[in-house]
Amino acid sequence: MEYRKLGNLQVSAIGMGTLRTFDVTSDDDIARSQEIIENCLANDVNFIDTAAWYGESEKVVGIATAGIRDQLHLATKVRCEGKAEGEAQIARSFQLLNTDYIELFQVHNMIDWQTHLPTLQNLKDEGKIGMLGVTAMVHEAYPTIAELMRSGRVDTVQIPYNVMERGCEEELLPLAEEHGIGILVMEPLQKGRYVKDLKRQPDLTPLREFGIETWAQALLAWVLGDSRVSVTIPATSRPERVMENAAAGSVGQLPQEMRDYIRHETERCL
Ligand SMILES: NC(=O)c1ccc[n+]([C@@H]2O[C@H](COP(=O)([O-])OP(=O)(O)OC[C@H]3O[C@@H](n4cnc5c(N)ncnc54)[C@H](OP(=O)(O)O)[C@@H]3O)[C@@H](O)[C@H]2O)c1
Repeated sequence: MEYRKLGNLQVSAIGMGTLRTFDVTSDDDIARSQEIIENCLANDVNFIDTAAWYGESEKVVGIATAGIRDQLHLATKVRCEGKAEGEAQIARSFQLLNTDYIELFQVHNMIDWQTHLPTLQNLKDEGKIGMLGVTAMVHEAYPTIAELMRSGRVDTVQIPYNVMERGCEEELLPLAEEHGIGILVMEPLQKGRYVKDLKRQPDLTPLREFGIETWAQALLAWVLGDSRVSVTIPATSRPERVMENAAAGSVGQLPQEMRDYIRHETERCL
């Protein structure tokens, strides 16, 4: 596993997302989430991303990381409007995650960021969180994020980046490099569609010499082929896929022609 700099942390280039997959309540599903986290550790994945907005996810992450919390870095997100509501939601995240320190706290989709960033800055000054960041899914938010990056108010930015969604390449990735800001990549598999919804079978032949054995690994290696990316966080509900996805973190820097090949092959097969 390659480890990359995310602000003040060294994180595994492949992390774990928890949107939908950790929003579970039955004993069986919680046990499966625990197995996913165990498999993360067994495969050198040390970074988990969750959010107050993801239903039961923070609670399940809290349960699944009990006893092994010190081996993992946690990121979560605040998503609501108003200072008092924000402070209450943030306090609840600490409770549900069962921890008194959170490595990264993000403002989810920039919602009421003007209110939440000062709250998170105070928590950072008090040593209760390690870093603060913002997340966004839409390009309309990018100019404001660029301003925040230039002003030094955020340690990290989480955005979508994959073979077909490359909106961050123009301004945000160069700014991240210039200012030493961590980049977290959401939706590396486009919610799984670029693996599960293909009409044709991609040809992996030229990728095998790089240790790529599955199409999911090819898509993840494409994302990590940009060295400005700190970590990407594919989610899965299937414990066995943790090992498959983690292996993409050992591919190393793919040559540009291989990144182009993966992009063209995705277009051909979609
Ligand atoms: N606004 C925001 O801040 C925001 C928005 C979106 C996402 N995120 C974060 O980014 C994370 C990743 O995004 P995402 O979960 O939407 O999308 P994603 O990681 O691109 O895709 C997840 C889907 O891919 C499938 N998958 C994973 N590994 C696979 C494999 N090896 N082979 C085939 N299918 C595979 C999973 O299905 P199975 O369960 O069947 O494996 C799951 O349905 C989220 O979990 C969340 O933490 C943040």
